[in-house]
Amino acid sequence: MAKRDFLQITDFSTDELNKLFDLAVEVKKLTKDGNSPTPLSGKSFACIFHKPSLRTRISFEVGISQLGGNSLYITDKEIELGKRESIEDVARVLSRYVDGIIIRTFSHENVEKLAEWSTVPVINALTDFTHPCQVISDLLTIKEHLGTWEGKTITYLGDGNNMARSWINAARRLNFDLRIGTVKETHPGELVNIATSEGAKVEVMYDPVEAVTGAHVVYTDVWASMGEKDKAGEKGNLLEKFQINDDLMKNADPGAIVMHCLPAERGREITDTVIDGPQSVVFDEAENRLHAQKAILITLAG
Ligand code: CP
Ligand code: NVA
Repeated sequence: MAKRDFLQITDFSTDELNKLFDLAVEVKKLTKDGNSPTPLSGKSFACIFHKPSLRTRISFEVGISQLGGNSLYITDKEIELGKRESIEDVARVLSRYVDGIIIRTFSHENVEKLAEWSTVPVINALTDFTHPCQVISDLLTIKEHLGTWEGKTITYLGDGNNMARSWINAARRLNFDLRIGTVKETHPGELVNIATSEGAKVEVMYDPVEAVTGAHVVYTDVWASMGEKDKAGEKGNLLEKFQINDDLMKNADPGAIVMHCLPAERGREITDTVIDGPQSVVFDEAENRLHAQKAILITLAG
C-alpha cells in the first residue's frame, strides 16, 4: 500500500477523518486505563523542529513512546534541511532509517517536497501555512464538550494565519459554520475562496461582535506567529478589537466554549478572566494533542 502523509486536514476524506476521531477516542480511553496499544513497537520517528515547541514536540515524543516506538529530536543544527544537503537527499536518507517523519518548519513547500521524496509518512507539525494536528485535537475537544461539531458555529478571531487556514481546511471536510473575524490586512487569503467554491460554510467578518454572536466555539491564537514577532506591535494595533474578553463573550451562545491553541499572549488576544474562566477548555485541548496525534500515528504508521 502506498504511504500516506498528513500535511493538511484535506489529505483525509470526511470518512477517514471520522474514523480518525473514533480511533482517538478509543486510544485516549485505553491510555487513561493504563493500556495504551503498542503498534509502533520497533519503529523509529524523526521529529524535526526548526521552531520552538512545548505541546507539539512533547506530545509527539510521549505519544510515540506510549505506542512502543522511539523518537529522535532533530533541530536545524543537525541536518540544516536544504542547506547542508538538498531536501530530496535528506528525504531519501531518512527514509532508510526511520518509519515516519514529523516536521515543524517555516516553509510549507519544503514539507511538501520532503513528503514527495520520502518513502515513509510525513506529518506536518506546523508550517507558516497550516497546523493540522492542532485542529484535529481541537475537534476532538469540541466532540467531548459539545457532543459534535455538526451544525455548530465556530468563530476564529484574530490573525488569518496557519491556525485560521487549518480551520478553513477542516470546514472543507466537516459540517460546521466557520466564521473568521479579522481585518482586511490579516485576511487568511485565497483558501477562503477555494473552500466556499467547494460548498464549505466559511465567512470572513470584519466586526468582532457579528462574528461572535451565537457562536458555540470562540477560538483565538497569538496575533504574531513564530518567525514574525517583529510584527507584534503592528498586528496588535490592527487586531485590538478582536480580543476575547468578558464583554465580547456576552454575545456568544451561553453554552459556548473558548479555545486557544496556546501559547497565549495573555492580555493581548485573550484576557486572563476568559482563558482561566469556566468556558475555557484550553488545557483539554492541550491534552488532546497527545491522544489525537497517537491516532494519526497509528493510522499512518501503525
Ligand atoms: N499549540 C502548539 O502547537 O504549541 P507548541 O508551539 O508549544 O507546540
Ligand atoms: N500561529 C502560531 C501557532 C502556534 C501554535 C504560530 O505559528 O506561532
